[in-house]
Amino acid sequence: MQSDDVTAAQSKAAADREMSCSVLPMLVILSPALFFLLMPDASVALWEDYKHVRHSSELYDNKHECTWKCLVFVLQWPGGFCLSLYNETHCKIPPDVNNWTIHGLWPLGVQSCCSCWPMFHSDVQELKENLTEYWPSLLTSRSPFQFWKEEWKKHGVCAACVEGFNSPLKYFQICLKLRQHFDIYTWLEAAGITPSCQQLYKVVEVSSVLAPHLGDKHEIQCVTDHKGREVLFQVKARLTQNLTVGCNHHGNTNTGPAAGSGPGPHPTGHPCPSDVPFYFFPINHQQPWRPCS
Ligand SMILES: *[C@@H]1O[C@H](CO)[C@@H](O)[C@H](O)[C@H]1NC(C)=O
Ligand SMILES: *[C@@H]1O[C@H](CO)[C@@H](O)[C@H](O)[C@H]1NC(C)=O
Ligand SMILES: *[C@@H]1O[C@H](CO)[C@@H](O)[C@H](O)[C@H]1NC(C)=O
Ligand SMILES: *[C@@H]1O[C@H](CO)[C@@H](O)[C@H](O)[C@H]1NC(C)=O
Repeated sequence: MQSDDVTAAQSKAAADREMSCSVLPMLVILSPALFFLLMPDASVALWEDYKHVRHSSELYDNKHECTWKCLVFVLQWPGGFCLSLYNETHCKIPPDVNNWTIHGLWPLGVQSCCSCWPMFHSDVQELKENLTEYWPSLLTSRSPFQFWKEEWKKHGVCAACVEGFNSPLKYFQICLKLRQHFDIYTWLEAAGITPSCQQLYKVVEVSSVLAPHLGDKHEIQCVTDHKGREVLFQVKARLTQNLTVGCNHHGNTNTGPAAGSGPGPHPTGHPCPSDVPFYFFPINHQQPWRPCS
């Protein structure tokens, strides 16, 4: 890690936090032609390519056999992310970032992958523009590529036992498609739930808007800001190996944001409490850590 402006330790801890594995089982698929009909009951319409799924043993070695059945797709709201950092100057929101961004796609229940599959700039060159907009690094200490590389190493390599994910390019391509599909901003907006410095929202109302799209197992996460307010910052959705929404496979249910990683330099998110309304702050590029003051 070649951090320039933040101590390596802090940036490492922050990175660990962002990459923390939470995960379970999983899935499947695809090919360049990925069309996701991710409605909870749309699995049938999905994967023509499912039949092409192979397991890792054919691809590389047994250590990488798919042990997972579900994936967790995690999107973060930049307007809340920066509030989670202990040292606010470590946060930045690039000018072209105005929407929900990708945090990661994690095989569920897998604690760590391996460094056995290095990733290079050239692997995702063709996706660079979209990744830069939809998968930015919000830490000043970490370049976007470092973030992608860390996610690939920590989660992508574990997902690669499924043919549709078996290269950095495919993995990131799928993530971008999922991001396109999961248009949280628009869904919430249609229900009158928009970023605001004043308005408070309840888990139950946000959840009822998201459930038809993300399934019942989605999780709405908050951080607690310096004034003790609950602030929306992340949404997690479970997907099957087919990339259909909702994954009921039982297994390791440790989906905590810090699963597998040590204490970081900032509080980790938590499920927004059901009895405490939370804020959905706007994105403030000038003062990302104080969007409303
Ligand atoms: C926050 O980080 C900046 C830059 O790394 C550093 O100069 C500053 O002292 C830090 N502030 C706190 C409160 O740790
Ligand atoms: C994936 O899709 C195929 C074909 O639609 C289906 O037969 C299979 O049960 C699905 N698998 C999962 C884990 O949902
Ligand atoms: C987020 O993206 C959606 C479309 O994907 C768009 O309709 C919406 O206006 C965007 N939100 C912001 C704050 O730009
Ligand atoms: C980038 O995103 C746009 C719209 O979100 C999409 O139309 C385009 O195909 C994407 N490009 C790549 C290379 O994925």
